[in-house]
Parts: sequence; structure tokens; C-alpha cells
Amino acid sequence: MKKLFIKTYGCQMNVYDSARIADLLMPLGYAAADAPDDADIVVLNTCHIREKAAEKVYSELGRLRRLKEQKAEQGSRMLIAVAGCVAQAEGDEIVRRQNAVDIVVGPQALHRIPEMIARAERHEGRVLETDFVPDEKFDSLPAVRAEGPAAFLTIQEGCDKFCTFCVVPYTRGAEFSRPVAQIEMEAQRLVEHGVREITLLGQNVNAYRGAGSDKSVWGLARLLRALAQIEGLKRLRYTTSHPCDMSDDLIDAHRDLQQLMPFLHLPVQSGSDRVLEAMNRHHTRDHYLRLVEKIRAARNDIALSSDFVVGFPGETDEDFEETMALVREVKYAQAFSFKYSARPGTPAAAARKQVPENVKSERLQALQFLLGEQQVEFAKSCEGRSMQVLFEGRGRKSGQAVGRSPYLQPVHVDHAEDLIGGIHDVTIARALPNSLSGTLLRTAQPEAAAAN
Ligand code: 5AD
Ligand code: SF4
Repeated sequence: MKKLFIKTYGCQMNVYDSARIADLLMPLGYAAADAPDDADIVVLNTCHIREKAAEKVYSELGRLRRLKEQKAEQGSRMLIAVAGCVAQAEGDEIVRRQNAVDIVVGPQALHRIPEMIARAERHEGRVLETDFVPDEKFDSLPAVRAEGPAAFLTIQEGCDKFCTFCVVPYTRGAEFSRPVAQIEMEAQRLVEHGVREITLLGQNVNAYRGAGSDKSVWGLARLLRALAQIEGLKRLRYTTSHPCDMSDDLIDAHRDLQQLMPFLHLPVQSGSDRVLEAMNRHHTRDHYLRLVEKIRAARNDIALSSDFVVGFPGETDEDFEETMALVREVKYAQAFSFKYSARPGTPAAAARKQVPENVKSERLQALQFLLGEQQVEFAKSCEGRSMQVLFEGRGRKSGQAVGRSPYLQPVHVDHAEDLIGGIHDVTIARALPNSLSGTLLRTAQPEAAAAN
């Protein structure tokens, strides 16, 4: 039996794609390897969003080249494949910089991997595929396998927003939504295999516009309502959203669907109108704040998360202060923040007023400190509350189970190993730095009860 090792970088969409690569190759006789050393093929599923992410790939390729050479000396062959967004954006550069690479495959062409491996094995030289054919990709992928009770399901790919800092519209291409029936089938299958929670994925997931069975175009709200009908599917989430696509319909779904978890990742990127405009975000600070108000009015226990970019070209101290003020106003349960990284080919990379690295670092530190405080505050507010936890796996201690709260926080519970795979009521005892610990509320409650 041959062995496959996949290393995944970047976002959840890559996690989904990596799982699909495994789904494609398992039936062809590939088993999972624990490390690259044991593998006949190593796939790096890469991320191009920031320079650091892309550079990591090249250093990993250096290590893999040495491994490949060692193996060749011992008479065995290892193929190296680069998949994902670096493959899409820099396919030619990859093969120029690292001649040990056998296969380069963009995210829209990954269904062609088996055939590409066959060609590489026949020593046909380097094999490159970076076409944009998302419908072909989803039509050609095999049925999903489920691993554990929580799963990702990609419903939309690509982005038409063209924020001036972002490579996604170039690496993942134009927006494409999978048809409703295909998504329903995949969700149904996951649930039949024990999945209780599905996170719908898309670069711009709330811009979803898929073909319904009645030939009309469905938005995300309608899709969520349909998926909520699937028996046994207890939790729904979706990520990542753009404020401009947060329709009233979708906000209503948060009010109406108890399966839709009260946690929303809604990136704002900056709190300054001037910067938002230069970022081509198509929304203002005020628009975002009003949206948050509306969402909280629809579902008062909702917790929010965001992405921030600091040090965007031309960002002044005043602009940055507006971001800090917005964070203080909204109060996030969790957030991601990044220093602006100039990406070749994006409009902002060519801007003259780049912010010096030390200023970016100072701003990032200040923002992360504030966001960290808010995260702790939110976790503390969970102490003493009872919430439903979906147990996903074992903890470090014997008998312990780890699950996720409705707010995606990891929750540790002792003597709960037998409950893995299900949703159970837990009283939160303590907020630890990056997780919660709690005790089971043993009074049996029907699983379908509303989240906390
Ligand atoms: N530099 C820094 N952060 C970026 N992001 C996207 N592009 C860049 C960039 N060039 C961040 C945004 C986005 C998240 C996925 O990554 O905050 O929401
Ligand atoms: Fe990138 Fe903006 Fe599209 Fe998000 S909305 S993927 S940040 S271009």
C-alpha cells in the first residue's frame, strides 16, 4: 500500500480541500502517512494570503528536497506536489525555485490529482494544472468521508470583492456557488456518517447564490433554512462573511434557526472610513456598527469575531485609533489581526505610502492586547453558565473529552470520554487562557434543545 502525507496551510477552505484530496487518493490505494518520511507522495496545500505564509512553503520544499534525495539514494521514490493558492499564483516560480517539485495543482484543479500523479509516475516530467474550472471540480470529486462529529462543507469559492490588499480574487478566481442539491446531498451524507455540526465554507460565503432545485437562485439564508431541516444535523455555522452581503434575510435566519450557532465571524478589517475606502471595502464604519446592532437585536446571545489588517498603506495614527475605538465599541469574543503584507499584483502593493515595519508591529501589538483582553473577558463571562458542548475527541487526561462550545471555544470535561460524538449540557467552571473547563450537567435533556 502506498502512503500519502498532506500538510495544510492557511484557511478552512484548504482544510476542506486537503480532506478531498485524501478522499480522491484513498480509493486508489493510498493510506495516510504519519510523517513525510513514510510517504510516497507529499502534498503541500498552500496559502498565499500573506508573504510569510508563502515563504513557509519554500522552506518546507527545501526540507522535502533533501528527504527526496535521501530516499532516492535508498532506492525509493517520493513525489512532491504543491497544491492550493501558492500553486495557483506562483506555479512557474515554484518549479523554477525548486526542481524537486513534481506536481503543481491549483485549488480549482485538484480533482485532477490522480491523473497527474499517474503522469508524474510515468516520468513525464513536471505536471502543472492551474485552470479555473470550479464546477468541474465539484462535479468530479468523490463522495465525502466524515471524520468526527464536526465537518466543513465548501459551498462557495472565489471572491468578486477585490479588496485592494487581497490576493483571493486572483488565486481563487471569481465567485462560484455550488448548486443547492449538491450541497444538500453532501450534508445528508455527512450526517449519516455521524456528523452533528456543519460549517459552510466560502471565501465570501454570505454572497452565496446557488441554483435551487426549482431553478431559482437561492441565497445563504434559504440554504441554511433548508439544511436546518435535516434530521440529526444539530449545528450550523458559516464563514467567512462580508458585511455588504449580510442581508436582512440572513439576519432573520439567526433569529429563527436554533441550529445556527450564536457566533459570527464578520471581518471589518479597519475602523477608519478613509482606510476602508482605500481598501475598497464598500462599507463604512457606521454601516458595520449598525449591522452589528441589527444582528444583536435579532439574536441577543450572539458573539462576534473579526479580521483586522493594521498598517495598510497610508494608515495614520488617527486611522488606527479609529480601529481601536471600533473594537472597544463592538467588543469581540475573538478575532484575528495581521500586519498588512504587500502582495504582488494587488493594487495596495503599488501604493507609495507604505507604513514602516516598526509602526505596523507597534499597532499590531496594541490591537492584539486589546483583543486579548476582550477574549478573556468573554471567556470569564461564560463561567457559571451552562452551554451545549459538541464533544469531538479525547483530552490529554485519561477519561477527559474535549468539545466546542456554541462560540467555538474548546471545552474540557473530565469523565466524559463515552460522550464523544454527541452534544451535552455542560456547566462552565473555569475560563483558562485558551479554553474552558466544565462539568457535565447530568440531567438528561433532549439533544435538540436550543443552544444554551
Ligand atoms: N496582508 C495582511 N492581511 C491580509 N489579509 C488578507 N490579505 C492580507 C494582506 N495582504 C487578512 C484579512 C482577511 C484574512 C483572511 O487575512 O484580514 O480577512
Ligand atoms: Fe479578500 Fe476582500 Fe474577498 Fe475577503 S472580501 S477574500 S478580504 S478580496
